[in-house]
Order: sequence, then C-alpha cells, then structure tokens
Amino acid sequence: MDIPFFDLTRQWQYLQDDVLAAVREVLESGQFILSEWVTELEQKIAALCGAEHGVGVANGSDAIFLALRALGIGPGDEVIVPAFTFFSTAESVSRTGATPIFADIDPVTYNLDCADVEKRLTPRTQAIIVVHLFGLAADMYEVMDLAASHGLFVIEDGAQAIGARYRNQPVGGIGHVGTLSFFPTKNLGCYGDGGMVVTRDADVAERVRILRCHGSKKKHHHSVMGINSRLDALQAAILLVKLQYQERWINRRREIAALYTEHLSGITKLQVPRETPGCYHVYHQYTVRCDRRDELQLGLKSRGIGSNIYYPLALHLQEAYADLGYTEEDLPHAEQATREVLSLPMFPELTDEEVHQVVVAVREVLGE
Ligand SMILES: Cc1ncc(COP(=O)(O)O)c(C=O)c1O
Repeated sequence: MDIPFFDLTRQWQYLQDDVLAAVREVLESGQFILSEWVTELEQKIAALCGAEHGVGVANGSDAIFLALRALGIGPGDEVIVPAFTFFSTAESVSRTGATPIFADIDPVTYNLDCADVEKRLTPRTQAIIVVHLFGLAADMYEVMDLAASHGLFVIEDGAQAIGARYRNQPVGGIGHVGTLSFFPTKNLGCYGDGGMVVTRDADVAERVRILRCHGSKKKHHHSVMGINSRLDALQAAILLVKLQYQERWINRRREIAALYTEHLSGITKLQVPRETPGCYHVYHQYTVRCDRRDELQLGLKSRGIGSNIYYPLALHLQEAYADLGYTEEDLPHAEQATREVLSLPMFPELTDEEVHQVVVAVREVLGE
C-alpha cells in the first residue's frame, strides 16, 4: 500500500458529521462574513497563543502583511526575515513597500540565527520576523533581547507552529504580534484559506481590524488605506470543530515523530530533527537531513512513499528577489539546508505500521 505524504480524507471520515452540522448552522444563519463564529474563534485562538486579541483574516500571508502595516512598517524600512522559510514571509514584507533583509539560519533548528541577524541590522531596520519552522519554536529569549536592545518589533510567523511552546509559553503571544495560517495542510487547517493575527497589544489589534476591512471602522468611512481580508463564517465554524481535536492531533504528531526518531537516529547518513530543550515541538513537518537527499526521495517514491522538500530554494536566491543583489554563498546554512532537507509523511492519522514501512524504506535506500 502506498503511503501518502499527507492525507486529509482520513480525518474527514470522523469529522464529517460535526463539520456538516456546523456548516449547516452557518448556512441557515445567513451570516457569512466575520460573524459570531469568527469572534468565538478569535477569542479561543488568542487564548491558545497566550495573547489577548485575535483578528481573523483571509490567510496567513495577509496576517503577516497586516501585522506589519499595523506596526507602521512601510517604504524605506527594513525587516529581517530568515532566508529559509515559505516565500510569503518575505513577500508580505515587500507588499508593505519595506525591504526584506535575509538572515541565515541555525543549521540544527532551521530557525533564525540571532548572531547573523545582528550583523544585518541597519538604522533602517524596524522589525524581525521569526518563523517557528516545521513546528519548532525559535529561540525567542534571544530574539526578544536583541530586538529590545535595538528598539525593534518582533513578529512571530507561527503559520506552522500553532500549539508549539517556548519555555512553557505558547508561540504567537511572545513577540509583539503573532501570525497564523489555517491553510488546509497546516496543523489546524480549514477547508480553504484562513489566517489570524494574535497580539497582547489592543491598539495593534484594533489597527488590524480596521485594515482588514478596507481601512474602515465605521461603515463607508475609511480612515486609512486597507484591504479586504476577512475570515469567513464557514471557515471559522469548521475551525471551531477542528479546534476540539487540536491537542489530540499534536500528541499524535509527537508520537509519530518519536517513532521515526527512535528508528532513524542510528542511520549515520541521516540527521533527524532535534528538539531544543524547553521547546515543545508540534511537528508540522518531520524533516530529516541527508546529503543523498535526492536519491532518498526517489527511492521512497519508487516504493510508493510520498515526501516533500521544504524548501528547495532559499529566499535570497529567488528570481523575485534578484534585484536585492544577493548571490550564492551569501547565506550558507540556508543554502545547504535547501540541498539536504526532506520531509517525511506526517499527519495525525498516519498509522504506526505506516511509519515502520517508511523507516524500512529509508534504511533500504540508504543501505543501512
Ligand atoms: C511559514 C509560513 N508563513 C506564511 C505562510 C502563509 O500562509 P497562507 O498560505 O495562509 O497565506 C505559510 C503557509 O503557507 C507558511 O508556512
């Protein structure tokens, strides 16, 4: 039997009754944009992230963009972004008119390397975006200290890390603003696009609320240039159903990760993900490292096992950023990661038997 990299149809089997009931309730209400479901979700997600305010938006990319705008970031400003993340972390900076400045990553955690960030600060730097990549919290104490000593904002891109913790604090509510994505494949995903901004700062939350609604607080009165970026009622109602499974799903992801690690850590050619002390990893991805990565991926594919490369090209080398003038070797750890990482099948419904099959296949391909 083939093993998919990711499969949402399995959870549909046990979610369908509750989801369909929730969808019916929304359809019968006639309320589709924002609504009581969005408000309830905003409160619950904010609490989960240790923040006081949640603002539902159309997707995780808009969440970053609106967070930056709410902090007053725009043309002429620079924002530090890791070079190894999904494109939209940087793209959202560019949409504000500010310039992303790429920093290198720690080769073990794949998260921002603060020493490298420090070298890239200039008088124009206004903020640092940390990404809790693959579900592992970045070193927030270090980032917050660095930001405080230079008067910078910290935005936590928690798209892959809802529920993750850093020294017992949930991610999202540690920095000045946190952003989330509810893209269907995320640990908490809806059935379409969705996102949220979370923050402890009431003023920032209020600005995001205005910006997500065409810059308007009072209907047909527009105080600033905003956009249309609202979470809709259907997605919020679906997310409220899924939220009840959140803890169970994270526990299962962690069990799967522990199984992989137990059986893969003896392979000399392979580096398994490491859990940083004090961090609660939620394993959005289980990403291994291997200098024979492409061969490993092909070998798994020929055995019917899915895998994915997150990410095959660092952001500073993307064509869209050619005008920033970066070249190869500028951010060596990020570049090396793009050549060596491979994410293995990971979703809560994956069975132990399937994990074992993946392990056997990895060993066969690498000859260990
Ligand atoms: C790290 C990271 N940031 C931002 C995003 C953007 O989220 P969305 O796809 O909801 O716009 C994603 C996911 O796609 C992501 O993985």
